Amino acid sequence: MILIKLGGSVITDKSEYRKFDEEQTSRLCKEMASSGKNVMVVHGAGSFGHVIAKKYSLQKGLEDFSQIPAVVQVQYDVRELSQYVVKELMKAGLPAVSVPPGSCFVMDNGRLIADNDETIKALAHIGIMPVLFGDVVADRSKGFGICSGDQAMEVLAKIFKPDKIVFISDVDGLFTADPKSDKDAKLIEDVTNENLGSISSELAVADVTGGIRGKIEEMLSMCNYTDECVLLNGTVPGRLQAFLKGEQVTCTRVRA
Ligand code: IPE
Repeated sequence: MILIKLGGSVITDKSEYRKFDEEQTSRLCKEMASSGKNVMVVHGAGSFGHVIAKKYSLQKGLEDFSQIPAVVQVQYDVRELSQYVVKELMKAGLPAVSVPPGSCFVMDNGRLIADNDETIKALAHIGIMPVLFGDVVADRSKGFGICSGDQAMEVLAKIFKPDKIVFISDVDGLFTADPKSDKDAKLIEDVTNENLGSISSELAVADVTGGIRGKIEEMLSMCNYTDECVLLNGTVPGRLQAFLKGEQVTCTRVRA
């Protein structure tokens, strides 16, 4: 099985609150289906999550009960986004169901606790793809917490030990500088524990769930459950399909 995260930057327009990119999501789902590979999808929240989460500092957990309307609004919005994603998967011929982490699991101090994984396993067993996503989840110590799609990826990686793990965003991979503002930025094709230190921690993004450095560290730890963990650009038509078919494509490979 190949575990794929559709980042919020490819399924939504991150600059506009609740803007779903139906065309791009549809194309990516078709690329997965036509690859003929067994895939499992997780998705991010994009502008259905980050805009309100940031405004009400939801990443800090419960500080004030005035945050609660924002918590339920984000939960509502990401569930709706998830239905849009599942609809595109189904249209592409991939049977899938949205499984909201906030309705199935709990967190503790910002970490997702998924010891009741029976539903997920049972769905996969009968050929239904459980689709997890970035959500606001009740937290034993902080009241509530933000569960990123990346945390959901980690949980699924542990359960299913996928052959490959793919993180899809709107950039080619990890660069020596921000490729959107620096034209001399070079793609780093391979990341290992050895060259991690040379990666600038300034390559942070504005989202509530952390920058690229933390992401690479998470990907390195996921290498315990898979052979290959890659960052891939989903805005380039055909690239995901080519990768799934085992072709050489532009991407960043993270290996332990
Ligand atoms: C964020 O999930 C979850 C919320 C803000 C509720 P992700 O961190 O996985 O989302 P993207 O991929 O960055 O948009």
